Amino acid sequence: MTQNLYITMENVKKSFNGVPVLKNVNLQIEKGEIHALLGENGAGKSTLMNILGGVHQPDSGSIYINEKEVKMTNPRISQEQGISFIHQELNMVSDLKVYENMYLGSELRNKVGFLKVEEMCRQTHEILARLGVDIDPKEYVRNLATSYKQLIEISKALLHKSTVIIMDEPTTSLAEHEVNRLFELMKNLKKSGISIIYISHKLKEIKEVCDRYTVLRDGEMIKSGNVEQEDLDTITKLMVGKSISQNRFVHEHSFGPVMLEVNNLTSLGLFKNIHFKVKKGEIVGFTGLAGDGRTELFESLFGYRKKYTGEIKINDQLIKIDHPRKAVEAGIGLVPKDRKENAIIKDLSVIHNMSLSSIGNFEKSGFIQDNIERDKFQYYKELLNIKVHNPSITIDKLSGGNQQKVIIAKWLEVGADILIFDNPTQGIDVGAKQEIYQQIVALAEQGKSVIILSSEAPEVMRICHTINVMYQGEITARFKGEEATEEEIMHYATGSKREAAKIG
Ligand SMILES: Nc1ncnc2c1ncn2[C@@H]1O[C@H](COP(=O)(O)OP(=O)(O)OP(=O)(O)O)[C@@H](O)[C@H]1O
Ligand SMILES: [Mg+2]
Repeated sequence: MTQNLYITMENVKKSFNGVPVLKNVNLQIEKGEIHALLGENGAGKSTLMNILGGVHQPDSGSIYINEKEVKMTNPRISQEQGISFIHQELNMVSDLKVYENMYLGSELRNKVGFLKVEEMCRQTHEILARLGVDIDPKEYVRNLATSYKQLIEISKALLHKSTVIIMDEPTTSLAEHEVNRLFELMKNLKKSGISIIYISHKLKEIKEVCDRYTVLRDGEMIKSGNVEQEDLDTITKLMVGKSISQNRFVHEHSFGPVMLEVNNLTSLGLFKNIHFKVKKGEIVGFTGLAGDGRTELFESLFGYRKKYTGEIKINDQLIKIDHPRKAVEAGIGLVPKDRKENAIIKDLSVIHNMSLSSIGNFEKSGFIQDNIERDKFQYYKELLNIKVHNPSITIDKLSGGNQQKVIIAKWLEVGADILIFDNPTQGIDVGAKQEIYQQIVALAEQGKSVIILSSEAPEVMRICHTINVMYQGEITARFKGEEATEEEIMHYATGSKREAAKIG
């Protein structure tokens, strides 16, 4: 045993409804290290952390903190042991203010029991400032972007002077500069002796900030080691059990006529002079950094935002889209980003989340046919490798990445002609990404027009025929998929280069 050993989880087992999810898992965390917890969607990462965080009880196994056994029978005990857990699906109370969320359950009071509001605000402000976040502690959480919510959770851990911080996919909705800031912060925390358990599907991040790693596969611990001594391919192989090619995915094929044409689309302060075309069978990507306007552009195109000018043509017909219903009628589907806030209905079963938007497909003489629905779900389950034993359980019981796959199934089932995917592989593991790419490419080959919005240049490079780069609300470059390089894309995404000719 090393001197620095801080947490040991030993022979942890856990089943849900008789299905084993963790089988004899061991995990060792040292003081002042950043430890990557890796594995495919459904491998058991969040469950293991829920056990450390006192959210779930293991069926057997032990947890030692500083060599002393601790029974984490509820989250409070875990917190008292200095463990903070920033959950994959954030846990903020929207109707409370920022400082109220920070102090929830541990409010500061004066001698006679009154809340010390100003003091809580002052401390909240101080911690947020350390993270470089400029928000009013008295702002309601519901008014904040997801990235801020994540930073508030991290601030909360700092406030509680935690010695271990579990971060379950903290960067999924952070912008590049916020990610960098988080990494700086993590390195500082590490220097001050804090241990961080870091879960992410972005393997590059692992290389950048993590010291050691543990890989889980199907609930079993496969290997622990030093990050420095492994290359990404080896780690991927440990996770997935096979090598994953990073080659371009999409095949060149001939396209049909133009399905969607956008001319001079402009929305004050969000995007301007947007021109592009998408043909039948084509996959068109939009990438850029945070604040590039791509999400807002396609939210407008889908009718979520009404204040824009310019022309949208579908099948050569001018059309005014001022409501999502009109977009759907015109054959457009949008798979939104931020699964929890925009896409899933968490109290509904897995199967109903899939069938929700295309209920007509399962009706016969006015009745929903459960068997058709079940067969259809089975089809998507195999197609996208969705890990779920019983699709009648509520969707929030699924691992994060598997929830995302259900959302994709839902939109495949809607069968729109023009499909817009915003950040489709958010929280999806490297192996499952391949499956989703395959599906997207197959959709195009069947004649759908596909639009992919992604902050990851390598992603659009792998699956798009055409790539648009955006910077501050404008398209600054357009590449053929096979001609783009990450470096070139970066130049245009940061505004250091822009196309001389007007992009039309
Ligand atoms: N409360 C629950 N009830 C039933 N099954 C559950 C529950 N929580 C998790 N599971 C199942 O346990 C398995 C492991 O899930 P877990 O969330 O730990 O995976 P993960 O490794 O975090 O995956 P991801 O990368 O997708 O977040 C999954 O098959 C999931 O469906
Ligand atoms: Mg998880």
